[in-house]
Amino acid sequence: MGRMIIIGAGLAGLSASVTLAEQGFSCDLISLQNSERAQSVLAEGGINAALNTMGEQDQVQNHYEDTLRGGVYLADPNAVRNLTSHAPEIVRWLENLGVPFNMTDQDIMLRNFGGQKKKRTAYAQSSTGKIIMTAVIDEARKHEVSGKIRRYSHHELICLLIRDHICMGARIRDLYTGEIRDFFGIVLLCSGGMNGIFPGMTTGTTQNTGDVTAIAFRQGVELGNLEMLQYHPTTIGIYGKRCLVTEAARGEGGRLYIMKNQKKWYFMEEKYPELKNLMPRDVVSREMYMIRRECGGSVYLDMTGLSQETWQKKLSDLRQEIIYYLALDPASAPLPVKEGIHYFMGGIAVDEKHQTNIKNLYAAGECACQYHGANRLGGNSLLGALYGGRKAAEIILQNPEDISEKDVSGMISDFRPASPELIQKIGEILVSGLGIIRNAGDLEKALHQLESLKGSNFREENRIYLAKAMLLSALERKESRGAHYREDYPEKKEAFRKTTIAEFAQEIKITFREIPERRAEL
Ligand code: FUM
Repeated sequence: MGRMIIIGAGLAGLSASVTLAEQGFSCDLISLQNSERAQSVLAEGGINAALNTMGEQDQVQNHYEDTLRGGVYLADPNAVRNLTSHAPEIVRWLENLGVPFNMTDQDIMLRNFGGQKKKRTAYAQSSTGKIIMTAVIDEARKHEVSGKIRRYSHHELICLLIRDHICMGARIRDLYTGEIRDFFGIVLLCSGGMNGIFPGMTTGTTQNTGDVTAIAFRQGVELGNLEMLQYHPTTIGIYGKRCLVTEAARGEGGRLYIMKNQKKWYFMEEKYPELKNLMPRDVVSREMYMIRRECGGSVYLDMTGLSQETWQKKLSDLRQEIIYYLALDPASAPLPVKEGIHYFMGGIAVDEKHQTNIKNLYAAGECACQYHGANRLGGNSLLGALYGGRKAAEIILQNPEDISEKDVSGMISDFRPASPELIQKIGEILVSGLGIIRNAGDLEKALHQLESLKGSNFREENRIYLAKAMLLSALERKESRGAHYREDYPEKKEAFRKTTIAEFAQEIKITFREIPERRAEL
């Protein structure tokens, strides 16, 4: 089998490339940035696995059910079953690679995270992503030495080489030399979330431009659940972007309140006595938004009750970060927080095997629409990236295809970037329709504003099409579910328990696809 092409060198791309290399296969790992600067290093709070090390009788079944419930039953249950049942083994693999997870006297320590009743989130202080990435990058290096993994950092995708619904490879440009080269082989997209579509509004890096997803869409790749944007409840504004305050802060005892009638109102604790401040993110973010509308002022995250030991052993990075950026010590003063776009549950539509609708084209990690349904649980993204990359690689290995040089006449060569002004404009329009609370009027107005924009190159046009597809997906989902809340359709409807599919063929078409039937328990 020829070399595989992986676009994106974050956790999903690394996981896929290591899996391939371990089986003796080779891949080209192509990315805008080095792995050390991938979005995955920004993940803070942890990775979920039913390791049951805290004496709580946790099991995979609970993780599976929490993930499906958290995603409001929009995720593929069979894929979620695979994900959650492999989670313990994945965390043990990381432990064997030398990831210094926080430990009890005997085993990996787990913390509470949103939407889950059991302690299930393994963590390394509050820099879990960075620490996991360090270990997995090291593992990949071993295979770089043998030539199984060949790295192309500072390279960008110009277009996929697709003809007649078959992918033959990717056209890639070296950002330093300007050289353009066609790579032939099966392609796995691991390009992350579409942060760059919302400049300054996300906790994620805008180096994840969204261009890969937009290019794929324009070239006929179906996208799923584009309306499902996750707003993380606790973010702070720093230097023109949102910065994450990990959910672990609440997992370790942080409390949300707002001032009402001159008193602190711990609204989450009053309204949701079971999970309190650790309700799923869609619920917490919506409550914060509504409560601000009702009471005015800011919502505060109160971490002043946390012990010195918790700060030192579990959240020291978070504390340093807040002191550094805001000159405020969260151990002694409450922190004003606000919801910020954090994760894209929607993206490239894939099946349980991570296959797209185009033959020989796969997707994994945040760029793919898989595992999280209408709302992702915190701690499931590092897991989804590691497991998804591995699963896609295993499937590719079962369906090897040697793709040698092909006729690529007529393929796109336009690599001009979208202008910053247009990017900004599209972001502002989008967020005016795709806020925490939505309605047809705002969505239609945003669509109308997009109609007046004209792209002057391939990438600009792509972004406009992608933005329209997001708004149209949100308009068509005439219900409220997870991260998608329509004040004009406030109820969840069984008829919409389907994946929204956006397709581009001269124009954008939105349809709904059935969620796969749950197979008998594995
Ligand atoms: O809040 C956090 O630490 C984020 C974790 C996640 O999105 O999985």
